[in-house]
Amino acid sequence: METKIEKIDKNKINEEIIEEAGMILKNGGLVAFPTETVYGLGADALKEEAAMKTYAAKGRPSDNPLIVHIAEYEDLRKIAVNIPAETDALAAHFWPGPLTMIFEKSEVVPYGTTGGLDTVAVRMPTDEVARALIRAAGGFVSAPSANTSGRPSPTLAEHVAEDLGGKIDMILDGGAVEIGLESTILDMTVTPPMILRPGAITAEMFEEVIGKVDVDETLLVAESEKAPKAPGMKYRHYAPKAKLMIVEGDLREEIFAIRQLAYKAYKEGRKVGVIATTETLPFYKYGVVKNIGTRENEKTIARNLYRVLREFDEEDVEEIYSESFAAQGIGKAIMNRLEKAAGHTRLSAAEIAKRQKYRRIIFISGTDSARAPMAAEMLRHEDLAQEYVIDSRGLVVLFPEPANQKAEAIMKSAQMTLENHVSRQLEPETLVEDTLVLTIEEAEKNKILSEYGTKANVYTLNEFVGSDGEIPNPYGKPLTAYGECYEILRELIKELAEKLNYIAEEE
Ligand code: TXA
Ligand code: MG
Repeated sequence: METKIEKIDKNKINEEIIEEAGMILKNGGLVAFPTETVYGLGADALKEEAAMKTYAAKGRPSDNPLIVHIAEYEDLRKIAVNIPAETDALAAHFWPGPLTMIFEKSEVVPYGTTGGLDTVAVRMPTDEVARALIRAAGGFVSAPSANTSGRPSPTLAEHVAEDLGGKIDMILDGGAVEIGLESTILDMTVTPPMILRPGAITAEMFEEVIGKVDVDETLLVAESEKAPKAPGMKYRHYAPKAKLMIVEGDLREEIFAIRQLAYKAYKEGRKVGVIATTETLPFYKYGVVKNIGTRENEKTIARNLYRVLREFDEEDVEEIYSESFAAQGIGKAIMNRLEKAAGHTRLSAAEIAKRQKYRRIIFISGTDSARAPMAAEMLRHEDLAQEYVIDSRGLVVLFPEPANQKAEAIMKSAQMTLENHVSRQLEPETLVEDTLVLTIEEAEKNKILSEYGTKANVYTLNEFVGSDGEIPNPYGKPLTAYGECYEILRELIKELAEKLNYIAEEE
């Protein structure tokens, strides 16, 4: 079957296209369309055979019921019965919008649409294209998310084409969706109503309107024995091909743990993905790093989540590490989808971080202009088993300066460079437990120990690698003195790398 793809602008709806799409649905065909949550795969909700086609196109088990989409509130009464009193208030607040409510179904709704259940899920979407299509199709459009069963829901028309191209009649391409996660499902057949799937409308928002609501307990625990009440929630949905793991802890620990894990995967030759945020992006260097949005506005994270998971699939990433997000507001829905995508694999950031003794290595010299930055740059070029932040600092840096020119000349001749180096004064805050401080001279070590009262691990570089030599100060001497200094440092840094790798192996 050829799938027709039509671009459509929700601010200037092309009625002809909508007419054509509506006819396809009336004739029992399938049309994918944008909604504010995710793209839906539309069919006539009142036709048994249309539901069967939907299940076949998605490869979805037919015991997993579809949501019926309406455009007018009065239409609810045609497909649902025994509608509880709170429904009016909920609809007044949240419809049209990302809310699906479950009611007892009326006679007109076929069991094909409800997966054999006596209840029906109903939603009134906001998206103008969706509403126009529903009207053109006669008022009742069943629509699961328009993805192949088991893949992340589509947030772009391209995602629909990827999964369902050739299997459905038409795709209405309305661009990127607004919310990016599926609607909140609220079961109205129980008292108080119960949230079966978290979404953009939260328990707190319902409670402001109708008082207490319950939350399906199977959503709250990681590995529940009980089947969730929304049949669709039991499947390992939203899954990327790669093994996704959520790293949990405080953000600093999460970043460090993910850096460690990504570095390890990189060293072992596995293609690794990292789910980062605008705020944390600069901390990651290894693997395919994707920005999922900003922590200042978690809506951006919701909007990008599925697209990012799909992109990882395309890049054939084998494993993905994700930061975790606040479980409030839309964060709850984000974490719910992420955890399902991860098959509930969570890793403790603190546990992982503990596997590495030093996170940061700082070389110290007097002015931070030659020996310390040279040592730092040499160490960055070593093959290290673990990842470290490698820096240099000085004890008497009056103002920031570039590296000594002779030091730079020597480094250049060894295919390294200090061109981005700017000297910096050592600050007491830098000296924390997970930092290894290596001074060039004995006097610097003593000064730090006496003046900074430090918790960091302070050694001279010589002492740390078990050598009793000295590192000569080339300052004011000819280039050859810098060359000799380079040779001495080179040896010490090689030994340092070996020692660090040995420590890493022991851990
Ligand atoms: O945002 C959305 O809800 C999107 C857009 C397209 O509207 N649709 C969507 O549909 O996410 P779908 O089929 O991917 O998910 C529907 C969920 C499934 O978990 C299903 O089991 C549950 O709703 N559901 C549908 N009818 C139900 C019913 N009568 N009782 C309990 N759960 C039901
Ligand atoms: Mg779905």
